[in-house]
Amino acid sequence: EDAERGGYDHYMLKEINEQPEALERTINGRITDDGRVALADFPPGTFDEVSEVHFLSCGTSHHASMYAQQLLRDRGVPAYAFTAGEYATTPAPVSEDTLVIAVTQSGETADTLASLRSANERGARTLTVTNVVGSTAAREADEALFIRAGPEIGVAATKTFTSQVAALLLVVERLTVDITGTPSEDSEAVLTALRELPDAVDRLIGSSIASSLAPRYAGSEQHFFIGRGVAYPVACEGALKLKEISYEQAEGFSAGELKHGPLALVTPETPIVAVFTGKHDTKTLNNVEEVRSRGASVIGVAPESADHVAAAVDEFLPIPDTNPDVAGVLANVQLQLVSYHVANVLNRSIDKPRNLAKSVTVE
Ligand code: G6P
Repeated sequence: EDAERGGYDHYMLKEINEQPEALERTINGRITDDGRVALADFPPGTFDEVSEVHFLSCGTSHHASMYAQQLLRDRGVPAYAFTAGEYATTPAPVSEDTLVIAVTQSGETADTLASLRSANERGARTLTVTNVVGSTAAREADEALFIRAGPEIGVAATKTFTSQVAALLLVVERLTVDITGTPSEDSEAVLTALRELPDAVDRLIGSSIASSLAPRYAGSEQHFFIGRGVAYPVACEGALKLKEISYEQAEGFSAGELKHGPLALVTPETPIVAVFTGKHDTKTLNNVEEVRSRGASVIGVAPESADHVAAAVDEFLPIPDTNPDVAGVLANVQLQLVSYHVANVLNRSIDKPRNLAKSVTVE
C-alpha cells in the first residue's frame, strides 16, 4: 500500500497533490486558443432551448453544484441546486426545457440516481457530470460530461471536487452563451483563470502554511466557516471536510446568516474560517468584525493581494490572485490542507473515516 500512496502518508494527501494534473485533464482540449469553451459532445447551440437548470447531488458534489448555481445566476440563468435525497421524494416541477444536471463523482450514489430517474420520468432533459465512465448515472442520463480526475481512493473527496467545479465552469460558460445568446462579461477572464488554475494550485500547495496552523486549532469546541457568493459553498465544503476526517464539530454558513442564530454559539473557543474571493469582501469583513468583537479568532483565506483582509484577521492563508469566480477553487485547496493537517494532529483515520463510505448505494 505504501507504494500505491506514492510516498505520501495518506491517499488524501496524495490526491490533494494530484490536483494540478487532474485539473489539466479536466480542461485539456476543452478551451480553445482564442478563449472559448469547446466541449466535443456539446457544440455551440446544444442548450439553446434550456430555460432553467436544476442540479442534483449529495455531499461534496452538492457543494460543487451550489458553486455552479451561483455562477449561472450571476450570468442571468435561473439555476437551483437541490440535495438529491430531497429531490427524490419532493422534486421541483420540470418541463422539457429544464436541464437537470446530476453531479456525482461515482455515478452510483443511490439518492442521486433516484432523483435523476424522477427527472427522466417527468420528461426533463438530463445530463450527468461524473468521474466514472460507464457508471449508472452516465448510462441513465441523456448526456454525460466526464471530469477525468482519475480514481480517488480517500473517502473524503478532494481532487474530484476541484475537477467538478472546473468542469462545471465550462458547462456554465457554454450554457450562458446558448441560453442568453452572448458569452458572460467575464468569460474570457474566467477561461484564462481556468487555464492557469493547475499552476496556481501547484504554487498554493507548495507554499501553504496550513500545517503550522493546525496544532493551534485542533481540538477546539467547534469551528465555523463563512463566505458569500461562491465562497459560501466553499465554506460549506471546508466544514464538511473537517467534520468528515477530524470528527470535529464544524458548520458552514452563508456569512450573512451568521447573525441570525449561529452567533449565539460564538465564543473565544470558536475559530472562524472566513473565505474571500475578491467579490463581496467588504460585507464578509463586517461579519469578521462581529465575531472578533466576541473574542473569536478568525482565519482568513483570501487572494494574496487582499491586504485589507490580511489586516483584519488573526491568521491569513493566502491564495494566488485570480478571477473571483475561480478563486473559490483555490480557497478550497487551502481548506483541504487545513482539514488534513488537523485530522493528522488528532491522529484520525484520514482515508477511511468511521461510518462513511466512498459511495453510498442505499437511499
Ligand atoms: C458519500 C461520500 C462523499 C460524496 C458523496 C456523494 O457520502 O463519502 O464524499 O461527496 O457520497 O458521492 P458522489 O459519488 O455522488 O459524488
